[in-house]
Amino acid sequence: MTSVAIVTGASSGIGAATARRLAAEGFHVLAAARRAERLTDLVAEITAAGGQATAVTCDVTSDESVARLAEAAAQAPGPVTLLVNNAGGARGLDPVESGSVADWQWMYDVNVLGTLRVTQALLPALEASGSGTIVVVSSTAGLTVYEGGGGYTAAKHAQTAIAGTLRLELCGRPLRVIEIDPGMVKTDEFGLVRFEGDAERAAAVYAGVPGPLVAEDVADCIAWCATRPEHVNIDRLVVRPRAQAAQHKVHRV
Ligand SMILES: NC(=O)c1ccc[n+]([C@@H]2O[C@H](COP(=O)([O-])OP(=O)(O)OC[C@H]3O[C@@H](n4cnc5c(N)ncnc54)[C@H](OP(=O)(O)O)[C@@H]3O)[C@@H](O)[C@H]2O)c1
Repeated sequence: MTSVAIVTGASSGIGAATARRLAAEGFHVLAAARRAERLTDLVAEITAAGGQATAVTCDVTSDESVARLAEAAAQAPGPVTLLVNNAGGARGLDPVESGSVADWQWMYDVNVLGTLRVTQALLPALEASGSGTIVVVSSTAGLTVYEGGGGYTAAKHAQTAIAGTLRLELCGRPLRVIEIDPGMVKTDEFGLVRFEGDAERAAAVYAGVPGPLVAEDVADCIAWCATRPEHVNIDRLVVRPRAQAAQHKVHRV
């Protein structure tokens, strides 16, 4: 039977690339996000390429919406073996001194509580499959801090803490927990969301950087980790572009 993989935040960037890649690996992908039209297009694209996918409109900040995602998973045509908690993002680059409480709240709700809600809702199905994998897409911002990144680094540190805690709590059960920590990834929307649609500011982040990561690079890492033999747990995979030796050390030409 075809294994089912759920990818949150599948309507763009890393999530969409991961959905495409997992479908190519043979999973039936449940592609979840808020923008239904984009998901429909993605599913059509995957299907045209010979893969299997279903669009599920889902807001990870809503208990009811996440419950509907779990219902969709229960109807899916195979055991649910993989969950990729990817929905998330950043808002603002303000110092802690003047950061917006609303931005911080949004980042905590989507990145942290979104991961919590979806993981809680899907855990029974993942365990029932006999061999479940939970991927948490955190960030290098979950491992280190940088000026102006207070709200995002706080949220990503919390998401990283969920992955570590969950791995301890699930030890002995047929479930593994994988944390993926990308550095700079040039995706179409991450910067636009962070800077409220300011394309110039979003583009400046990647200006002159030779070879920032792209969404497909991260999807490749996720797919590799998730397709190791079931006894192999890649606890954490940190991936940056060669030009980014550290958060504060970026080579630009
Ligand atoms: N780009 C980077 O440099 C980078 C680096 C490290 C880690 N990351 C992490 O990687 C993940 C994906 O980032 P990306 O670069 O691919 O950004 P992106 O293109 O902005 O993707 C974010 C995705 O999250 C979804 N989303 C946002 N709010 C949601 C909600 N309430 N419910 C459900 N889905 C929601 C969005 O879909 P809808 O708007 O349709 O809901 C979108 O599909 C994020 O967790 C991000 O923090 C990114």
